[in-house]
Amino acid sequence: MLRPEILRDPAPVYTAWRENDPFYWFEELGTWVLTRHQDCAAVLRRLDRFTSDWRRLGERVPDELVMLQTVDPPEHPPVRRLLTAAYRACDHVTLVERTSARVRRLLAGVEGRTADFVDEVATPLTVATICDLLGVDPPDPGWLRRVSPPVIDTMDAGLRPEVIPAGLAARAELDELIERWMTEHRPGGMFSYLAQKLPGAGLDRRLVLNSVRSTFHAGFESSARLLSLALLAFTDAPGTLPQFMRNPESAVEEVIRYTSQVQVLARGCLADTEVGDHRVRAGEGVTLIIGAANRDSAVFRDPEALRLGRSPNPHLGFGRGLHACLGAGVASMQARVLFSELAGYTMVRREGEPAMWDSGTLRGVRALPVTLGRGGDPACATPTDR
Ligand code: HEM
Repeated sequence: MLRPEILRDPAPVYTAWRENDPFYWFEELGTWVLTRHQDCAAVLRRLDRFTSDWRRLGERVPDELVMLQTVDPPEHPPVRRLLTAAYRACDHVTLVERTSARVRRLLAGVEGRTADFVDEVATPLTVATICDLLGVDPPDPGWLRRVSPPVIDTMDAGLRPEVIPAGLAARAELDELIERWMTEHRPGGMFSYLAQKLPGAGLDRRLVLNSVRSTFHAGFESSARLLSLALLAFTDAPGTLPQFMRNPESAVEEVIRYTSQVQVLARGCLADTEVGDHRVRAGEGVTLIIGAANRDSAVFRDPEALRLGRSPNPHLGFGRGLHACLGAGVASMQARVLFSELAGYTMVRREGEPAMWDSGTLRGVRALPVTLGRGGDPACATPTDR
């Protein structure tokens, strides 16, 4: 999973798994590995049989990791309701306006020269957007660059248990920031809502703040990975980006399907259950390869092609059911705003190969050198770009 060629394009491996053994028992990790869309979707639907809360299977879960994504009902719904209410209380019209202005500013700053799209556009954009939503000032970029990767590494802890201590230490640093933001925030953002409602809500404060930490972290990391992987996909398939404006909504759904930032979701089986023609036994793990499900030819015609007008597009990129992504709207909005702007550029050229993050769970580009340009410069109108 972590070999460079697989990180760059996991699709061939996924296709081989899906075609040869779509319901594969991975002895080393004690888990089934599922690659068919119908099986992954079935597991996400069966909340009564498949849990996100490993404590229910007798595992010890550190307090730092108990959050919205890792709890079941009855703990989950009230926390989800609180965060959803905080999210909805924000002024989303202003958020879109500010994001549009920021996109134009960031793109103008890199126009006409070779720049790292991840460092100079995707990350500053998504950090600023999630901080706008939360109603706080963005933290120091250097600090964020240091604490964020260990958090992501822990998502691969099944493959690399040695990453856990650094991941917990990084979360402790983020927790200090979240605690500070509970008192230092602007009116109108999620923190201002939470600071008012949390004290009387009768909820486990630690669980809520861990969930807010994860909202902040997913808010910029998953979104930045979407934007960079999407640009990589557009440069891999010349001629696609200019089509973005034909239907930006379906185009965003398609890049999410095609790039699948969240490659893997994990669940534990609570009671013996049939999934398709297989029986999963109580206590066994189930690893859903979302990246593979999103390329399943049983559901998507011509799945290896980036087709911006694809409809319907029942991808699993934002999950499904109870735990479906809380921030899907904000992530999609940023992609819509950014690529609507870039679709008007005459030059969107990748300068060499990208550097990929070595993560099996949350796929991403670490560095993506590009030259972006528009207007009358003839150098901007090479046929490879359009
Ligand atoms: C392209 C960007 C994003 C992708 C691909 C993505 C993907 C996902 C997926 C697959 C899940 C389901 C996890 C599971 O079932 O175990 C999820 C949950 C979640 N996401 Fe996102 N996400 C993105 C952006 C965001 C943003 C911007 C936010 C915050 C504003 C966010 C906050 C959350 C939260 C809080 C959950 C947990 C929901 C729950 O358990 O009830 N995500 N996300």
